[in-house]
Amino acid sequence: MDILSQELENYLAQHSTAETDLLKKLEKETFQKTTQPQMLSGGYQGRLLSLISKLIRPNRILEIGTFTGYATLCLAEGLTPKGKIITIDRNEELMYLPKKYFAESEYAQQIEFRIGNALDVLDELNEKFDLVFIDADKSNYINYYEKVLGKMNPGGVILADNVLWYGKVLQETKANDKDTKILKEFNELTSKDPRVESIILPVRDGISLIRKI
Ligand SMILES: C[S@@+](CC[C@H](N)C(=O)[O-])C[C@H]1O[C@@H](n2cnc3c(N)ncnc32)[C@H](O)[C@@H]1O
Repeated sequence: MDILSQELENYLAQHSTAETDLLKKLEKETFQKTTQPQMLSGGYQGRLLSLISKLIRPNRILEIGTFTGYATLCLAEGLTPKGKIITIDRNEELMYLPKKYFAESEYAQQIEFRIGNALDVLDELNEKFDLVFIDADKSNYINYYEKVLGKMNPGGVILADNVLWYGKVLQETKANDKDTKILKEFNELTSKDPRVESIILPVRDGISLIRKI
């Protein structure tokens, strides 16, 4: 399901700040070298991530699901000078791509790239985060949320991508596959959880903006 017409999406992208040349290059190479390039956040969503990060000015960011590192670099734009972003992915075959672009970026010293299963890596982290981007396997969204909530500073923000799951969250429960079921439960949980305030933004495939109270 497309929330917006292609025409309107083009208009929004054309009338928002443009992505950097490095991000354009990364997007192009992602389309050339990977089989699922649509997983990358892309220009419009990337500018939203960058702007949210700049408004928060986080000292610590966590990203669950690096892919080729597009969103990592967008989120890093808001880091304080001594800030750090930890990004996790289990895909070892692809890690050469984000590594190359992280090294080329001005944030090379501020990015810690962890390879492994996100739930295991999360257990190893003894940091408190100001901003978290959940964007890995949908079946673990509630597990990620619960683990991450305990590692947030008060007022910290969690962003969760794909919470509309191509409109499948509107389907009858009976017809649901596992990912859709979990995402529906995730949206129920975050909208009623007294530990947070949350709102779903109808951007691309839906982004939850969740603030820890
Ligand atoms: C949608 S992509 C991330 C896109 C990226 N955040 C962006 O916006 O450009 C999801 C990534 O999560 C990774 N992933 C999926 N399940 C994972 C898990 N259990 N642990 C670590 N990484 C996982 C996949 O390898 C994939 O690269």
